[in-house]
Amino acid sequence: MRPKIVAANWKMNKDLSEGIQLASEVIRRIQKAKKRSVQVVLIPPFIHLTTINRLAERENIYVGAQNCHEQALGAFTGEISALMLRSVGVTFVIIGHSERRQYFKEDDTLLAKKISIALKHDLQPIFCCGESLQIREEEKPIAFVKKQLSASLFHLSQQEMSKVAIAYEPVWAIGTGKTATPEQAQIMHEAIRMQIREKYGKETADNIPILYGGSCNEQNAKKLFACPDVDGGLIGGASLQAASFISIVNSF
Ligand code: 13P
Repeated sequence: MRPKIVAANWKMNKDLSEGIQLASEVIRRIQKAKKRSVQVVLIPPFIHLTTINRLAERENIYVGAQNCHEQALGAFTGEISALMLRSVGVTFVIIGHSERRQYFKEDDTLLAKKISIALKHDLQPIFCCGESLQIREEEKPIAFVKKQLSASLFHLSQQEMSKVAIAYEPVWAIGTGKTATPEQAQIMHEAIRMQIREKYGKETADNIPILYGGSCNEQNAKKLFACPDVDGGLIGGASLQAASFISIVNSF
């Protein structure tokens, strides 16, 4: 059975003491909730990873990074590699977030390289895909997302693909307060799973977690997570407060 994952993408928010406070509060509330069938992942800015991981690892909470470079090491001033992330206890890495695609011009080919290097260094990529409002209005979102997947993931072997998680994040829903309806999310998630099934077979497709991201919050998480092909969430704004994040974690 595929895992359920709820991941907190803090983006470029929280200084170190705020980050420690937020992570500690998430941990405290999770301990209280006791039973947990969901993998919880905290994805702070790079420089907080070591500190947050020390807090989180004792409680079986994973940490993830928001990005990595496509090379393992070398003269790339200002960059962070998958090898380095692994060395400080990182488990997950977001690859292809729409903000990286938009502001840092990351394209499908570069993302394919990042996926490969992440897997090589034992990180689980959370590969983000999703269409803009214009593409949705032109009624071609499924074809668009399928192309993102085939361009950046389909060079992987079946064994590699089985280690990937996918996050469907419609760009028009990110940080806008507009959420995909459960029906819209389910249609896309099912299409993604079918595409993986066609390429890699039923077992791989059935086991791959597909998360939803885009204004997911404590009000709408339950209905989204009830969809058969929605296996969790990648949460932005609502992950910056422990209470709302935990309430999303508890929505399964
Ligand atoms: P919001 O939850 O703030 O819409 O952000 C979603 C997201 O981009 C998570 O990666």
